[in-house]
Amino acid sequence: MNMQTTYLGMQLKNPLVPSSSPLSKDIDSAKKLEDAGAAALVMNSLFEEEIRMEDEMLDDFFKHLVKTTDIAGDRVLPDIMCTAIDDYLMHLIRLKTTLDIPVIASLNADTLSAWVGHVSEIEESGADALELNVYHIPTRIEESSADVEALYIDTLTTIKEKLTIPVVMKLPSQFSSVPNMVYRLQQAGADGVSLFNRFYQPSIDLDSLDVMPQIRLSTSYESLLSMRWIAFLRDQVKLTLAATSGAHTVEDALRLLLTGADVVHMCSALLKNGPEHLSEVLKGMQQWMEEKGYDSLSQFQGSVSHAQAANPAAYARANYLQLLKNW
Ligand SMILES: Cc1cc2nc3c(=O)[nH]c(=O)nc-3n(C[C@H](O)[C@H](O)[C@H](O)COP(=O)(O)O)c2cc1C
Repeated sequence: MNMQTTYLGMQLKNPLVPSSSPLSKDIDSAKKLEDAGAAALVMNSLFEEEIRMEDEMLDDFFKHLVKTTDIAGDRVLPDIMCTAIDDYLMHLIRLKTTLDIPVIASLNADTLSAWVGHVSEIEESGADALELNVYHIPTRIEESSADVEALYIDTLTTIKEKLTIPVVMKLPSQFSSVPNMVYRLQQAGADGVSLFNRFYQPSIDLDSLDVMPQIRLSTSYESLLSMRWIAFLRDQVKLTLAATSGAHTVEDALRLLLTGADVVHMCSALLKNGPEHLSEVLKGMQQWMEEKGYDSLSQFQGSVSHAQAANPAAYARANYLQLLKNW
């Protein structure tokens, strides 16, 4: 059974790729993912806040050095100042040494300046690709959708200029036109997009009235959002389409591939059920392919995209009124 697919120009043995999560922070669990059949691995992110904190500490440290005249001898930086970036690069090197599958580094930020000095180090440390998670929440009424879109395009363009490895943008679904945004990213040089990032929704504690940040794992229902947009995009763009959010079961993964996903990312399902869950999903997919008489993934991948589906209108407005009436 040929499960091969292409992701960011790389030939993968199958389409299941764990997305960025704490599972890649630990070498043992990363190895378990590989053993369970993961075809590649997206690392936990290096966060802008970690880099900025480090830069500020370095600034303070050097200001202090300039002010004080009695510091002499070895000017060794305190350990804390060489942590986040160095740790991340070391971890990347360890993952690359331990695993045979491609390792995709991940940066998470909403301003460009924090990252730009470090992306070359990531490439030099052996990352096979880089995922950019522009986790930006527009909160001011002055910030237009054009401003937000420009942030994504500028970030991609600046970072692409510094790298030779492929770059994939992890996007939220909240764009006025997802297809246009993805097309513009492709034109700006993106090698792929990952659809979609989840923004975590805070709640309010009704006793203390504190705003409570919280993370809830996804459910299969969320995969339908990626499914629909990948269906529209598949025949209109050439870049890699990675499905992110809500892939838990064999059925979720198959539906995403049928609409045209090149790979299916998993996070919540693996956190909930353990790395071994990936091999169960893989087995189930193979079984379905056998039952349907498919020898390879390419025989059905994208066969139910918007352009290929027997009833393409069902992806858009058609049936909407009927569905509501039938409720
Ligand atoms: C505990 C946890 C940690 C995560 N860490 C990261 C991260 O470091 N960087 C990132 O881009 N996404 C991160 N994510 C988001 C996931 O990679 C994924 O995009 C999201 O959970 C949706 O996929 P899922 O439905 O399979 O969980 C994290 C998610 C969870 C639940």
